[in-house]
Amino acid sequence: MELEERAKTDEQTHGRSLSGVHRYYELAKRAEWQVRDLPWGDLPPVPEYKGSPQKLARRRDLWRSVVTQQLQADELAVEMSTQLFSIAPDREAKLYYTTMVQDEARHTEAWLKLIAEAGGMAERDPYLDRLARQVLDAGTLEEKVFLMQVFYERLIIPRFRMIARSSRGTVLEDLCNRLTIDDGIHHGAGMAYERVLLEGAGKKVKSQLVDAANRLLPLFAQHALWRPKAREFVGALMRETDIRMLKEDLEQGVRLANSLGLDVSDVVMPY
Ligand SMILES: [Fe+2]
Ligand SMILES: [Fe+2]
Repeated sequence: MELEERAKTDEQTHGRSLSGVHRYYELAKRAEWQVRDLPWGDLPPVPEYKGSPQKLARRRDLWRSVVTQQLQADELAVEMSTQLFSIAPDREAKLYYTTMVQDEARHTEAWLKLIAEAGGMAERDPYLDRLARQVLDAGTLEEKVFLMQVFYERLIIPRFRMIARSSRGTVLEDLCNRLTIDDGIHHGAGMAYERVLLEGAGKKVKSQLVDAANRLLPLFAQHALWRPKAREFVGALMRETDIRMLKEDLEQGVRLANSLGLDVSDVVMPY
């Protein structure tokens, strides 16, 4: 950003209340944990099974695939939160984003260690890379905070709960429980900041945001319904669940947008 523009932004932001965002900075520092706190060596990395070698191999590939997608998501989250840190004009928001960058980096570190213990990387989700690209290339801070923190950080939480439920007594379960808390903070901070940003935003910024959401939704649906080869055998079974969760995510997104005073009646639902 040019210096002059930055000064203008500072002027615009002067007087707006960022105490809500600052509260999340304090909260995030208190909630910080370390990768060494996970039960490495005491619990298996991912669920273990009994059965034929084929069944064991198939299960192992399934969990490798689950861990790979989360590693991919957190690697992208480091990039996105770093960008938020560098472009946010407000001091309080910048302070807060230092903790979010640190959180996403720690999540990546944990997934990297877990994937090594679980047998190595699997196939990447091509749609997730494209979704992240859209957020990184979005034109305004308001769009980025909305897509990343208001929408994505919120919908990942039930995913972590689902993975934790199906991986009891593992390092994976422990990690998912920690991520539920961290991403709850990321979402809360994003809601608080987006409120402040939208208060000072004109009609144009808001309609740009709705357009950005519209562009993202078809890609988001492809991501939500994508199945890697390692999980194709559960795909048919899971398709209905995937569609149900996708619909819930979209409804949740509309509720969140409405609660921020955004008019999303023009948004075209992909499902
Ligand atoms: Fe994360
Ligand atoms: Fe996050």
